[in-house]
Amino acid sequence: MSISIPRGTQDILPGEVEKWQLIEAKARELCEKYQYKEIRTPIFEHTDLFSRGVGDSTDIVQKEMYTFEDRGKRSLTLRPEGTAAVVRSFVEKKMFGLANQPVKLYYMGPMFRYERPQAGRFRQFVQFGIEALGSNDPAIDAEVISLAMNLYKEMGLKKLKLIINSLGDKESRSAHRDALVNHFKPRIGEFCHDCQNRLEKNPLRILDCKQDREHELMLTAPSILEFLNDFSKEYFEKLQKYLTQLDIPFEVDANLVRGLDYYNHTAFEIMSNAEGFGAITTLCGGGRYNGLAEEIGGPETPGIGFALSIERFIAALDAEGIELASNEGIDCYLAALGEEAKDYTVGLLQQLRRAGFSAERDYLDRKIKAQFKAADRLKAKFVAVLGDEELKNNKINVKNMATGEQVEIDLATFIKQFQELQD
Ligand code: HAM
Repeated sequence: MSISIPRGTQDILPGEVEKWQLIEAKARELCEKYQYKEIRTPIFEHTDLFSRGVGDSTDIVQKEMYTFEDRGKRSLTLRPEGTAAVVRSFVEKKMFGLANQPVKLYYMGPMFRYERPQAGRFRQFVQFGIEALGSNDPAIDAEVISLAMNLYKEMGLKKLKLIINSLGDKESRSAHRDALVNHFKPRIGEFCHDCQNRLEKNPLRILDCKQDREHELMLTAPSILEFLNDFSKEYFEKLQKYLTQLDIPFEVDANLVRGLDYYNHTAFEIMSNAEGFGAITTLCGGGRYNGLAEEIGGPETPGIGFALSIERFIAALDAEGIELASNEGIDCYLAALGEEAKDYTVGLLQQLRRAGFSAERDYLDRKIKAQFKAADRLKAKFVAVLGDEELKNNKINVKNMATGEQVEIDLATFIKQFQELQD
């Protein structure tokens, strides 16, 4: 019996992988412009990092983690997200002591969540994310949002919607929390088992429940925005001012709570409103997480960031009909006729590649006609034909596949003359 790919994962094959490479390259280019530096953390971490960081009462920690015990009986977890690990590293490597503050980092790599697979939802997916640690200035919240928006825009996406919310500081959240408990408590029996558990532990999570979304108490639940204290209100207003200044349209949605526990003040999501995008429209999510560093045992450090998956990025590009990669074709295909000529192309191929050209030859002992067909399939710009006769005379025949023009050049000066043909 053959073995198939695990559910919720995918192979990214040549033809598709070029899209990934373009997005990844653009993300790195933007990070360089915005001065975010790459950080690479392990694929697995101690389970405690996520239960403490992401939050014990979140769906991620409760239901979605790939947790296992290693041979030393330690509980480890395949990372479901990147922020907790970046903050762990920030604390452990004492980046708070660096001269350059805030510390601005980015990461790109696979994350793992045991979710029910559907369009746009995978069990292994690749996140690109950024984190800025050490600044409490709402201008950096705006910068973080603008990097994500610019990345989408520069890849050609137009149908984007940015929604923002404020979850306030500790004081505001605690007032809101009490109001939520009072609101739901009298009728909590009408809610799902999960929500009943959430009531005391983390009532904000009730607002994120998919099962009880339609319950009338959900629609009348007290909004966090009514509970923001002056500091939080001013923070949120400044963020909105900066976004306007940056020409980034947004909507405020008081119901945006996000699925992770570490957020305060700014929370945001970028959605695709392209027709036919499917049920899951969130492309990118992020927010501020002052306090997370302390939770993990570090000094008090403000932080803000976002993460987006390349899978949903590509789905949004497809939904808007944006074609990314065009297979450009190779510079030169070396076709050979005769044993000696074939042997000779081994070295010639290396010369071409060393000179910076993409080049290919036949490895299947094909007839010359079939070699030309192979060159066509590779969209070769030039085909250089070498026969035993030419080899004796130190010549090679080069055909420009676009114009049909052919020239005979000296083998000794092949690379130099081939370079001249490019103009
Ligand atoms: P998140 O909202 O859980 O936030 O995930 C961020 C993004 O990852 C989503 O908007 C989506 O693009 C992608 N994503 C999540 N789950 C899946 C999935 N199963 N399949 C495909 N894509 C998925 C975080 O992970 C936070 N760490 C973001 C953050 C960074 N907040 C502050 N800094």
